[in-house]
Amino acid sequence: MADQQIDPWSVQAGTDEQGNTLEFDYVAISQKWNTKLIDQNLLERFEKVTGKKPHRWLRRGLFFSHRDFDRILDSYERGDRFFLYTGRGPSSGSMHIGHTIPFEFTRWLQDVFDVPLVIMLTDDEKALFREKLTFEEVMQYSRDNARDIIAMGFDVEKTFIYSDLKYLGGHFLLNAWEFSKLVTFNQVRGAFGFNESTSIGRCFFPSLQCVAAFATSYPEIWGDDPDGDLRSKQTAKIPCLIPMAIDQDPYFRLVRDNSHRMRFPSPKPAIIHSKFLTALQGPGGKMSASNPNSAIFMSDTPNQIKNKINRHAFSGGKETIEEHRKYGGNPDVDVAYQYLTYFEDDDEKLKKIYDEYKSGTLATGDLKKECIALMQGYVKVFQERRNAVTDEVLQQYMKPRKLEWKGNPNPVKL
Ligand code: TRP
Repeated sequence: MADQQIDPWSVQAGTDEQGNTLEFDYVAISQKWNTKLIDQNLLERFEKVTGKKPHRWLRRGLFFSHRDFDRILDSYERGDRFFLYTGRGPSSGSMHIGHTIPFEFTRWLQDVFDVPLVIMLTDDEKALFREKLTFEEVMQYSRDNARDIIAMGFDVEKTFIYSDLKYLGGHFLLNAWEFSKLVTFNQVRGAFGFNESTSIGRCFFPSLQCVAAFATSYPEIWGDDPDGDLRSKQTAKIPCLIPMAIDQDPYFRLVRDNSHRMRFPSPKPAIIHSKFLTALQGPGGKMSASNPNSAIFMSDTPNQIKNKINRHAFSGGKETIEEHRKYGGNPDVDVAYQYLTYFEDDDEKLKKIYDEYKSGTLATGDLKKECIALMQGYVKVFQERRNAVTDEVLQQYMKPRKLEWKGNPNPVKL
């Protein structure tokens, strides 16, 4: 028997007395870290302020928790500026569907709010925390992953993607040094479990991921003077919203505890947290780049997708079709059904599938067929866009520059 273990570098579900893997307990992690659960009130307020229906991942609780998202809605309502920040640690050349979730969601947020977005590729982090990876390898992964991320469909006028090893300097690094001066070893030990044998690179790295949430780290975006010695006090006040999987939260608790102590204080960054996507093997399992059958990869062919779902997706159906018709299946543990909840937008269609599967009128094979078609469609669109990402396109996204945004077209005068 073991408790679940969630931190930025390892995520493991708990086990029962017999050693069986349990589902993640998201309410427990929210309570432990003192985050707020996203409730119906917040979704209603979102719809009122933006005029848009909440994304299905909000409606269905895949993004389930937040910090100060309500404050971001207040800013948007007033027509104030803010920006979006998310990232990826490039530890392998290709991404699986689990990796795409925060990006797909972030792109939707960018569409809804019409605000600038920065995407940090923490190649430095991966080289520091994975014994075997060299700095050269991770830089190549950054370029490959940036292409994948561009293929998610971000607006080039509003999006800046950067590799830590290539971009970091100037005001960004100035912020990181100032931040590192405020934070003691005791604090990072508490947040990340470091000890006396942890390399000094690993101990410093959090400063970088943290100050990426300060607008002053990107003078080029706001039209400040990137070569000047002074950060802009005004820019420091621009709030930040970070969509991410909940395992990254320890970094941003550290920022939230210290942002007001910077010379040019910034507001505490707001956060919206997602759960982890279920692996093909079922709840508690982990999608892993090193196990091709644990996940659908964005480079898979239609046939591979079909075979993976048919052969490896954990089923809630009964052993035989007769039994299934008689007793019905269990959609709540069925992975194909889970994936439909991620990718089928039509709430009514989804409910119908749920009811029919549970009553046994819908067979496992037919449920899987639905799931296969949706996943093939998602991956196909991605691959088409990915093929269109030339070196030139890559350079456009990765060039530090002023970003265009309009924000709320009809701000409320309070
Ligand atoms: N550390 C993250 C990872 O390993 C990458 C990252 C950097 C990130 N900044 C972020 C993720 C902000 C979410 C939000 O994947």
